[in-house]
Amino acid sequence: LASGLGVVLVAYLLGAIPTGYWAGKLLQGIDIREHGSKSTGATNVLRTLGKGPALTVLLIDVFKGVTAVLLARWIYSLPAIIAVVPDAIDRFAWTNWVVTLAALMAMVGHSRSIWINFTGGKSAATGLGVLFAMAWQVGLGVAVIFGLVLAIFRIVSLSSIAAAIGAIGLMWAFRQPLSYQLIVLAGGLYVIWRHKANIQRLVAGTEPKIGQKHQESE
Ligand code: G3P
Repeated sequence: LASGLGVVLVAYLLGAIPTGYWAGKLLQGIDIREHGSKSTGATNVLRTLGKGPALTVLLIDVFKGVTAVLLARWIYSLPAIIAVVPDAIDRFAWTNWVVTLAALMAMVGHSRSIWINFTGGKSAATGLGVLFAMAWQVGLGVAVIFGLVLAIFRIVSLSSIAAAIGAIGLMWAFRQPLSYQLIVLAGGLYVIWRHKANIQRLVAGTEPKIGQKHQESE
């Protein structure tokens, strides 16, 4: 039990690394939480600090999710490659719950970081990383959904919400273990809930397209 709790705590702390916040402080001496959507995620870094910082933050935030899951697997001596052999996963069913809890806590850490008063981003990038490490087929499918919706509508929040719904469906469609399906249901709903301000703006027709500033806050 202690090792399980340790794994989950480490996953939270990994997710809590405030990449976007640091980018704002280091590059422009600003608190990114006072700009744009107030999120510390890559999308807000893009509209506030530019493309290079946004790409860097995006990659690190995805990597936080990947690392949290792989670390949990490694601690239980499950090689990462096992993700491509569903039968092998089933033989280690109980450890899936620790791995999945670690995945969820990495996402929570990203959006409720202990280092910045429990604020943060919306867990889409870290969620994508988690998915890639849990089941790469699902991660790939979700990345495609995100890319397609972004290409059509040019609105990141809408793409993230579509990706979250897609993740829930694809975990089921790819017949992943029940623990994975349930945790992605929770994680997907969490991501959507974190987008509630975006949803209000989408309904009002004021949600900015990618790279655009917010009307009201700047
Ligand atoms: O991943 C976050 C994205 O979906 C929305 O970000 O800054 O526009 O609220 P933002």
